[in-house]
This record gives sequence, structure tokens and C-alpha cells, in this order.
Amino acid sequence: MKLLKEKIVNEGIVLNENVLKVDSFINHQMDPVLMKEIGKEFAERFKDDKVSKILTIESSGIAPAIMAGLEMGVQVIFARKRKSLTLTENLYTSSVYSFTKQESNDITVSKQYIEPGENVLIIDDFLANGQAALGLAEIVQQAKANISGIGVLIEKSFQPGAEELLAKGYRLESLARIASLNNKQVEFAPERTYQNI
Ligand code: G4P
Repeated sequence: MKLLKEKIVNEGIVLNENVLKVDSFINHQMDPVLMKEIGKEFAERFKDDKVSKILTIESSGIAPAIMAGLEMGVQVIFARKRKSLTLTENLYTSSVYSFTKQESNDITVSKQYIEPGENVLIIDDFLANGQAALGLAEIVQQAKANISGIGVLIEKSFQPGAEELLAKGYRLESLARIASLNNKQVEFAPERTYQNI
């Protein structure tokens, strides 16, 4: 997606060969114009998939997910990483291991908000090791709903998450694919294309 790639080039900061800082438009300050366009892009890419719900994870997945939900006319639910005071019963839970933080965290979604048989689109900001996306996918499976696909803003193609999700048969739509962050430079990978079956 051209606009997102331009933002990455103009405002992204390569912290090291593994980490891209995008605090000025995704992870801290958020750009509503960009988020609106991202919502439209996901709506276009999944327009034939009868998506009935969007599932994301707090916090940085929420903005693009809500914009996609607005465009697609569906509700958006975010998995919680922290325990909620009011949300304590009837939960789907999955354990997500963060390689970055070297710790596991339980993520939770109320059983109330995912119906069996629904078509769920999973959205997140970064795809690195894929653990968050896999945790969300597990929750959709627990709910006996269908996974329409996984949409991410930034895929770091040099890390194993994308391959793992594809190997499990999920449709993966990445709005920007990064091949390398070596030498303090962002090198993009070409868009992944799916052949019509
Ligand atoms: P994984 O889910 O793909 O396995 O990712 P990992 O455990 O490696 O990442 C943990 C956190 O770091 C996630 O955010 C993820 O979005 C973020 N992250 C991974 N790689 C990058 C990167 O290159 N740049 C930036 N800016 N973030 C990255 P989180 O802790 O859940 O944060 P938030 O959603 O609350 O903002």
C-alpha cells in the first residue's frame, strides 16, 4: 500500500536490524487519515469474504481494526492483554509468547462476542514472529468461527511469522512487507499475490 510505504520511508526510524520504530503514525501518535485509508484497503481486499467480525489485540491493532470495521460495516473486538476488572467470566483464552519480551501472556476475549460460524478477519499492526496472530487464530477456533484471513499493516518478512501463518494455510494480507532493515535502511519486499483458484 503506497501511502503506508511512504509513511514508513519518511517517518519510520530503523532502530536496529530487527526493529522499525513507527511511533509517529501507528504505535504512539496515530494518523487518522492513514488509518482511514488502511481501513478502506482491508475492506477492498476482503470484500468477497463475507467478514462478519474483526478481531484485533490491544493496543496498536485497535485503530486500523476500527477503521476497517467502519468500512466493512462490522463490529470490532480486541483481545485484552491485561486482566479486566469487569471481564472475568466466560472467556476464550490463549497464551501468547513474546520473543521480544521473553514472556508469555494470556490474551482473552469474551465468549459473548464471537458466535460460532462467524467469519472473522484478524488485524494487527506488526507481524514479526506471528505469536499474536496465532493466539488470535486460536481464539477464533475455540469459538468455532471461521478465519477469513489475517491482515497486518507491516510484515517483517525476514522474521518467521509470515511463513508460519502461510504454512498453516491462513490467507495473509500485508499492506507493507519489509525484506530487510539492514544498514539502517528499509528495504521493501514485493506484494504477495494470490492466484485465483
Ligand atoms: P509477534 O506477535 O509477531 O510474535 O511479535 P513479538 O512478540 O515479536 O512482538 C511483541 C510486540 O512488539 C508487539 O507489540 C509487536 O507489534 C511489536 N513489534 C514487533 N516488531 C516490531 C517492530 O519492528 N517495530 C515496532 N514498532 N513494534 C514491533 P505490543 O507489545 O503488543 O505493543 P502494542 O500493540 O500494545 O503497541
